[in-house]
Amino acid sequence: HLCWAVVPAAGVGKRMLADRPKQYLPLAGKTVIEHTLNRLLQSGAFQAVAVAISLEDPYWPELDIAKHPEVITAPGGKERADSVLSALKALEGKADENDWVLVHDAARPCLTAEDIHLQIDSLKNDPVGGILALSSHDTLKHVDGNSITATIDRKHVWRALTPQMFKYGMLRDALQQTEGNPAITDEASALELLGFQPKIVEGRPDNIKITRPEDLALAQFYMEQQA
Ligand code: CTP
Ligand code: MG
Repeated sequence: HLCWAVVPAAGVGKRMLADRPKQYLPLAGKTVIEHTLNRLLQSGAFQAVAVAISLEDPYWPELDIAKHPEVITAPGGKERADSVLSALKALEGKADENDWVLVHDAARPCLTAEDIHLQIDSLKNDPVGGILALSSHDTLKHVDGNSITATIDRKHVWRALTPQMFKYGMLRDALQQTEGNPAITDEASALELLGFQPKIVEGRPDNIKITRPEDLALAQFYMEQQA
């Protein structure tokens, strides 16, 4: 089965406190989103990349990559899940129901081809799919107010990254059925709610999401390390 990439890029980046959405901030000579899309395109794993962009976004049409023949633009939605569903719909008639879709945040520009291929190789024979994830190095506490009520067994807790890899038809149906549910903060949670148990694949710790101002310098550092 073929693989397609979906990139939600319609957020405003509130926590970044910048003058524009974080996907358009400069990083190592390009914008964040150009790094993200280049890494997906250059991996050679995908037929095309569907990108969800806000209808009010003045920055996207200015980028050359918006005209790339393997880049498809879709309108962004209110929440991340709405943006992902919109981008999936833009692949209608192109992607087969059983093709794989890898959903990857525009705000994760340090993704490596190594992780993309590891994920696809690990999950391509799985009936559901799964996500890149990281274990926690810190001891984890369950807290009520500011009181610790338990220490959580770390072997059962993983941090969800992207890409999140699922079958095209199954993911579209899951996101449609869970539309508007605020508990759906990633693709896996939509499938979990329907009773599926997606897999985890251990990813690289440099696949960070740019969320707060200090993350840009960290992304720059990781890119220099990768080069
Ligand atoms: N995203 C999206 N559509 C939305 C909200 C988010 O496509 N309605 C995208 C963002 O552009 C980002 C990814 O989802 O690439 C991960 O979301 P997050 O890191 O939360 O980005 P923002 O929502 O932009 O940031 P913030 O929550 O700080 O406002
Ligand atoms: Mg957000």
